[in-house]
Amino acid sequence: MDCLPVAYNFDSYVRTILDLLKKWAWLFQYKNVDLLESGVLDSPEASYLSLISDLQLEDLNLVPQGFMKYVWPGDLKMFLRSCHELKLVIPKMETPSSKINVALFRGMKMKKRKEVIALSHVVSETCMKYGIRRVVDIGCGLGHVDRILHHTYGFKVLGIEMDVNKVKRAKEIDCFIDYIVARLSEETLSQLVSTINDWLGGEQMCLIALHSCGDLSIHVGALFKALSTAKCQIVIPCCYHRSNLLPLSKLLKESGLVNVNLLRIASDINAKRWEQMTSEEHMAHGRSVLSRNIMQLFPQTDKNSIKKNRRHLMRKSATNDWNSCLQNCLERSSGLNAEKLQTDWNSYEWRIRQVESFTCLQVCLQGVAEGLVIADILNHTFGQQNFHFKLLKLLDDVTSPRSTAIIGTRL
Ligand SMILES: C[S@@+](CC[C@H](N)C(=O)[O-])C[C@H]1O[C@@H](n2cnc3c(N)ncnc32)[C@H](O)[C@@H]1O
Repeated sequence: MDCLPVAYNFDSYVRTILDLLKKWAWLFQYKNVDLLESGVLDSPEASYLSLISDLQLEDLNLVPQGFMKYVWPGDLKMFLRSCHELKLVIPKMETPSSKINVALFRGMKMKKRKEVIALSHVVSETCMKYGIRRVVDIGCGLGHVDRILHHTYGFKVLGIEMDVNKVKRAKEIDCFIDYIVARLSEETLSQLVSTINDWLGGEQMCLIALHSCGDLSIHVGALFKALSTAKCQIVIPCCYHRSNLLPLSKLLKESGLVNVNLLRIASDINAKRWEQMTSEEHMAHGRSVLSRNIMQLFPQTDKNSIKKNRRHLMRKSATNDWNSCLQNCLERSSGLNAEKLQTDWNSYEWRIRQVESFTCLQVCLQGVAEGLVIADILNHTFGQQNFHFKLLKLLDDVTSPRSTAIIGTRL
C-alpha cells in the first residue's frame, strides 16, 4: 500500500499501531461520557494530563501536530511522535476551478458545494481515462453530486438511496437523474448487481459514494468487486463508529483493541481543526463533556426517572457557561434534581481543563485511528491482485475533515 508511512506493509503497519494502542488504551477504553464514572481521569496514566493542562492555548493547539516539551516523560514524547509518524500519507488534489452553474447548488451548504465540486472533478478525470459515461451513486441522499455530474459533465447517473423521502425530494429537485430506493447490504447485493446491470445496458460505469457512513463504504467495495461492469469506484467514507463490521482483518479483530470509542475518535475532530480552537471553544467543549459525565453519575434510580424531552440534552450554544448548561438540561428533561446537579458541578468544575487535555490526546490519536480504519478497508476491498487503488484528499482537513477518496480501479 503506497499510502502507508515508509517501511510498512499492511501487517507491520497494523502491528505497530496495535503496540501503540495497547499502551494507550486508557484513552479509548471508556465512552467519553464515562470518564468520571470509570475513574480513568485519576488513573496513574492520566498523570500526563496535568502536563497538557499547564500549556498555553497556542501550545495546547499544536500538541496533535507534534508539539512537545523537552522535559516531558519519554513515554509521552514517544506517543506524540508515533501518532505523527503513523498517519497515512495522502496527497491532496489541486482545487479545481468551478465552471458550475450556481443554480445547481440549490439547497447545498458551502461545505457540501466544495465537496461536490471536488468530487465531480475527480469523477470526470477518472472516467475520462476509460471513456466511461455512466455513474452509479450509492447512498446518494438528495443527489447533490449527481446533478453536477449530469448537467455539468454530461454523465448519465443512477442514484441509489435507502431513504424513500430523500429519493422523493431528489426526484422533485431534478427529474433528469434516475433514482431508486434500495438498501445496499450483503443480502441485497446480488439483486442490486442485476438492477444496475439492467440500467447500464452493457456499458461500463464508475461507482461513487460521497460520505458513505458506517458500513456503507464496505458494502460499496463488495458491490464494486461483484460488478464486472464497474471499472472504478470513488468512495469517501465517514462515521466509522456507526459500523457494525469494523474491524475487518483477523489481526485487528483478534487484538480486541478496535472498539466503538476508537472508531469514534477516528471520525472526530482532527489535528488541523483542533489547531484553530479558541479558549472559549475549549472551555465550552470541556463543559459539555463534563456535564454529560455528571449526568452519568446520577444513581440508576435517578437516571430512570430522567426523561429527555429532546434528543440532545443540551443546545450547543448552552455550553458557554454552566448556568445556561444547567438551565438547558432542566428545560429539555423532566426528573432532574437541579440541586444535586449544581452540587456535583461545583465539585467537578475544576476538571474542565483535565477533560480537555484528555480530548487533546484523543485528537493526537485521530489520524492514527483513521489510518488504521482506512488501511483495514483497503486491505479488505483490494487485497486481490486484479485491482489498483489510490487515496486522494479532495479538500483540506479544515474545510472538510472527511474528504479522503478511496479510488479503486479494476485492472
Ligand atoms: C451522509 S449521507 C450522504 C448523502 C450524499 N451522498 C451526500 O453526500 O450528500 C449518507 C446517505 O447514505 C444513505 N445510506 C446509508 N446506508 C445505506 C445503504 N446501506 N444503502 C443505501 N443508502 C444508504 C443514507 O440514507 C444517507 O442518505
